[in-house]
Amino acid sequence: MRLHTSFRVGGPADTFVKPKNVADLKRVLILARSWGKPITVVGAGSNLLVRDGGIRGIVVRVGEGFGEVGFEGSGLHAGAGLKLPALVLWAATRGLAGLEFAAGIPGSVGGAVVTNAGAFGGSIADVIRAVTVVDPGGEEHAFPKEALGLVYRGSRFRSDKEFILTGARFELVPDRPDAVLRRLRTNQEARRFTQPVQTRSAGSIFKNPPGDYAGRLLDACGCKGLSVGGAQVSEVHANFIVNLGEASAGDVLRLIEELRSRVEERFGIHLELEVEVLGED
Ligand code: EPU
Repeated sequence: MRLHTSFRVGGPADTFVKPKNVADLKRVLILARSWGKPITVVGAGSNLLVRDGGIRGIVVRVGEGFGEVGFEGSGLHAGAGLKLPALVLWAATRGLAGLEFAAGIPGSVGGAVVTNAGAFGGSIADVIRAVTVVDPGGEEHAFPKEALGLVYRGSRFRSDKEFILTGARFELVPDRPDAVLRRLRTNQEARRFTQPVQTRSAGSIFKNPPGDYAGRLLDACGCKGLSVGGAQVSEVHANFIVNLGEASAGDVLRLIEELRSRVEERFGIHLELEVEVLGED
């Protein structure tokens, strides 16, 4: 799984499948059911920490086969496997505003919806209208925004793994392409100064606790530069752990526990993970 995550850590999947389309995905689901194999769905792998023992059963990557994008009614439709940066650029060059907050978020559309990805005061919840999903029996359904349970960095799909996201519909606002592109560039620049964008990581490790920032708390506890094996707290942003090259998931998890206990001891705040941890030790 290290090949399929931006963190570049994690053991093997028993079986790794990249369906080409919804029909293909349905076949995988039906086979998995008849074999009694569990399914784990992943997207671009940019918010994942896979443990060193890897993942049992079938890992389904919703990727290239679900990469379509186009106008749909007054909005636009994007496949769950489309990379978010591609969607952001597609909309900007056509003069559609609203996704500028997502400049530089590296995930897939599906992953972004599941985690209600956000930055710079915006999030997927501001622009999404509906999603299409496939249930474990291979049946397709559509859910409106109100049924998605969108909260800060989460949705019903983060805990309810029954449905597999295949696409999403967004409602954006017409604007001049050059104005949208300018705002995109501004946000991208801001990221470059405040986050270790060139290094292997999974983005923010912890959610921000109510009324505060995980990065501020970790920084105040002197965590920047702290390391376990090949995993190190970024010197740029204390809520990022970077893989210096040969980190194991075990290194990252031990570092996470150290960070948690420091913040708990000093501030009495328990930090909740923002990254999704999958697999076995
Ligand atoms: N701060 C420090 N030290 C640090 C890092 C941050 O003191 O090492 C302070 C900053 O000075 C600032 C505050 O903490 O006062 C917040 O920092 P920042 O503006 O960098 O934003 P953040 O809350 O840490 C959030 C998202 C990011 C998103 C940025 C940009 C979460 C957990 N993180 O970071 O999302 O890119 O805002 O808007 O909500 C992600 O989810 O993976 C992610 C990168």
